This record gives sequence, C-alpha cells and structure tokens, in this order.
Amino acid sequence: MRTMQLDVHDDDRTRRAYEALAASRVFGRPWFEPSSFTEVAIDWRHEDKAEPKEIWVAEDGGDVAGVATLFLPMEDNTSMAWFDLHVHPEHRRRGHGSALMDRMAERAQDAGRACLLTEIMVPVDEPDHGYRRFIERHGYSLNNTEVMRHLDLPVADDHLSRLDSDTRPRWEGDYRLETHVNGVPEPLRESLCEVMNQLIVDAPTGDIEFEPESVNPARYQEYLDVEREMGRQRLTTVAMNDTGEVVAYTDLVLPVGAPSTVWQWGTYVHREHRGRRLGMAVKLENLGRLQVDHPQRQRVITGNDGTNSWMVSINEALGFRIVELCPAYQRKLA
Ligand SMILES: CC(C)(COP(=O)(O)OP(=O)(O)OC[C@H]1O[C@@H](n2cnc3c(N)ncnc32)[C@H](O)[C@@H]1OP(=O)(O)O)[C@@H](O)C(=O)NCCC(=O)NCCS
Repeated sequence: MRTMQLDVHDDDRTRRAYEALAASRVFGRPWFEPSSFTEVAIDWRHEDKAEPKEIWVAEDGGDVAGVATLFLPMEDNTSMAWFDLHVHPEHRRRGHGSALMDRMAERAQDAGRACLLTEIMVPVDEPDHGYRRFIERHGYSLNNTEVMRHLDLPVADDHLSRLDSDTRPRWEGDYRLETHVNGVPEPLRESLCEVMNQLIVDAPTGDIEFEPESVNPARYQEYLDVEREMGRQRLTTVAMNDTGEVVAYTDLVLPVGAPSTVWQWGTYVHREHRGRRLGMAVKLENLGRLQVDHPQRQRVITGNDGTNSWMVSINEALGFRIVELCPAYQRKLA
C-alpha cells in the first residue's frame, strides 16, 4: 500500500481514480448520480491559481483504492486548507483512508496552513456512523452540520404562483430580476462578484470565521470557461436595484453526468437589502426557468446549515425535504 500524487494527464490512472471516487460517493446513496469522468478530469486538470489543488491516490496492488483532493486557497482564507477523501467501498477498512488522511495533514502543514477542513455525507439517523468515527479518530472535531435537502421536480405551477404572489409585493417596484444562462453579462459581473464573495462570511459556519472570498470578473470568467468545457449549464437569477447593481443572486448548476440532478449553489442577499423577500424571489424565478427549459431534471439538491433558519424556511416553503446530513469537521495543525 502506498500514496502518491496523481498525474492528472495519465488518462488510465485518472480514470481509475475517478472510478474509486464515483463508487464511494454512490455507496449507500442510491439516488446519487456522480459527475461524469469528463467533468471530473477537466476539474482536476484545471489549474486554478487562486485555489491550487493536489490529487493524491492510495494504491493497492496497482489498483487505485482511494483518492483525496487537497485545496490550498492562495488569495483569501490562506491559513486554511480543505480536502475531500474517498476510498472505494471494496477497499475500505484496510488503512487507505488513514494513509490519505495523514498525507493531507502533512501537505497542509508543509504549505503553512493552520486549519484543515473536510465534510462527510451521513444518514440523518446514525450519530455514530463509521465515517464520523473515522474522522474523529483522526483528531477532527465537528464544526457545524449542513442539512441536505432534495426538491422533487416539477414543483406544481400553482404552488410557485402562490409563493410568488405572497412575496412579489414586498420587492416589486424597487428591484428588477433577470435570469442568465452560463454567466451574467459583463456589466453585472463586478457587483455579482462582490455579493458572491460575501456568502462565505454571512452563511452560518459554526466556530470558523471565514474571510470574504476574492472572486473577480476574470476568475468568474475562468470558472465559466471550465463549466462550458465540461458541458455544464449554470442558471443565474440576479436581483438589481435602480442603479443596476446586483444585490441578490442564486445559481443552479446542471451537471452532465447526473442527468436527473440539479445542484443549488449559492444564494445571497446583500445585507442592506434583506427583509424584502429577495431570496425567495430569485429562487422562484430561477426554478421557473429551470422547469421550462429542462423538464428532464428530476431533483434539486441543496445544503444549509441547521441554524440558517432564513434559508431553510425558504427551502421548506418551496417543498424541499431532508435526505441526509453533511457534517463539517476541522482540525487545528501545529
Ligand atoms: C471514511 C473512509 C474514507 C474510510 O476509509 P478506509 O480506507 O476504510 O479507512 P481506514 O481503513 O484507514 O480506517 C477505517 C476506520 O474508520 C472507521 N470506519 C470507517 N468506515 C466504517 C464503517 N462502515 N463502519 C465502522 N467503522 C468504520 C473505523 O474506525 C475503521 O477502523 P476499523 O476498521 O479498525 O474498525 C471511507 O469509508 C470513505 O471513503 N467514506 C466515504 C467518504 C468519506 O466519508 N470520507 C471522509 C472524509 S475525511
């Protein structure tokens, strides 16, 4: 058994690493559709200068048994590192996970990081699940827990209209909504990046205090280019005030390898514009567009911190139901 950094341009090994990752993600989660090999390979091969990543694999007699991806943010939150670690179900409980875990800590320490973060997906009713035992045994403590919810599509039009008529009077006249496919137009990008960068600060994340992110229009374009290469679609609804600045946004992403699934990414309303139901407004508009343009998609997946009552109440009103938990763990490095 050994761990080594994956050469992401070696197609054969990259595919085997992908297979271990996909098998692990699906294990015990029959509804889960993994991203395609192409999407994952493009992601692994994309050199993101703002957040470089290292992909490590654990080998078992020439086979790839497990894979871990370490992210080292360089432009914000530079005292932190985060990672994702998976062992193929057929290779579990033989030490591969622990070997990769040690490698992540070593690499983060070498990069001068003080705090290492990771997340797991576990059933709602198993507080002593093996994944929790694994991670706690490696010196991590629970930071916060996101509750993962699914929304079955399509949502009935009359339900959406009712929510719309309940909320529209609160914002109409002062704000304008627009939905864009695969990125907003140039004039909106600066203010969109500003609100996107605040999301990590304001969303509840336990004891960890994150700095604002540092996405700018150039990086935004870079991410859109990667998504286009993957074949993904992104639906963005923004709310703008009378000066044409983005004050709220929401993103839905349609992966290629997961043809039934839609991922809810960020939703954020600027602090000075809260209390006007803009969160619900942008979500309703985006969802409406999704249902018309992509009727084959069957579910939207979202995760919210258990204490984020504002966002949770919007999602519950839309009809999201709880499916699993995503506890986030942290470990301080010496
Ligand atoms: C958690 C995971 C990485 C462990 O990989 P692994 O190769 O089995 O890990 P190791 O062999 O080094 O350690 C296994 C230990 O983890 C715990 N554990 C892991 N899965 C378990 C399970 N299903 N039941 C009970 N204990 C389990 C036990 O303490 C076990 O030790 P034991 O076999 O001596 O009882 C793997 O199960 C996995 O890929 N899970 C899905 C993704 C995930 O949760 N990743 C963790 C992010 S850090």
